[in-house]
Amino acid sequence: MEIISAIAVLRETLQGRQPVAFVPTMGNLHEGHLALVEQARQHGRCVVVSIFVNPLQFGAGEDLEKYPRTLEADCRKLQAAGADIVFTPSAHELFPTPQQFQVEPPSIASELCGAVRPGHFHGVATIVLKLFNIVQPACGVFGKKDYQQLHIIRGMVREFDLPIQIFAGETIRAEDGLALSSRNGYLSQEERAEAPRLYRALLQIREALASGQIDFAALETAARNDLARHGWQVDYISLRNANTLQAAQPGDAARVVLGAARLGTTRLIDNLEF
Ligand code: PAF
Repeated sequence: MEIISAIAVLRETLQGRQPVAFVPTMGNLHEGHLALVEQARQHGRCVVVSIFVNPLQFGAGEDLEKYPRTLEADCRKLQAAGADIVFTPSAHELFPTPQQFQVEPPSIASELCGAVRPGHFHGVATIVLKLFNIVQPACGVFGKKDYQQLHIIRGMVREFDLPIQIFAGETIRAEDGLALSSRNGYLSQEERAEAPRLYRALLQIREALASGQIDFAALETAARNDLARHGWQVDYISLRNANTLQAAQPGDAARVVLGAARLGTTRLIDNLEF
């Protein structure tokens, strides 16, 4: 496995190694990321994983500085998972001058997580477009855990006619249901014990719908109230059409319920398709 931090070296190294399968990450890798690498191996001759904590997607007062940086451990895991190249650019390599052009995602980027993290998806889409241009992969693999991000990237690829196939990786969960996330490491012991309640709230909504309940707003409110009673600060619990991410309507072919809530200072997100 090669570790490369310069764009020019990466481009040279990738010559003749198409098709490249690409997994962009911000590091602090867990089983969820490694499952994406495994998936990428099925689609490319050469698997490139990027590790870059992207300042463009963090707002003021968010966890950019304290975001865990664990490069050595990440590289060991990637080597074992069969990645071919780890791309670890510095901020200066990607932004030798301030990034003045930004991708402007559609209005869905201002809902759900975008409503509480204004500009977040502009930053995500901008860095992903830059990384796609640098790596020029045949495909990119993104986790469903970041469902709204996946939706926005799919839209960007489609509308900009990028010749890149996007694959979605299933969310990997701990035994108690908590979705694996780099941010789980911020949780105290008590918070970690409480954290699976978010997933259980989503499961309850799915079960209620399956048993014939049709009042979407009432289900969302009940889940929000239950979380709040257990000490969560809820950003949203929202039932959406899985293809458009617009508010769910009777008769939708596929739905997803998404949730984001804070336990103490840690913000967790999760979702469930059905
Ligand atoms: O999902 C992430 O880790 C990040 O948002 C991504 C896609 C690597 C862009 O910085």
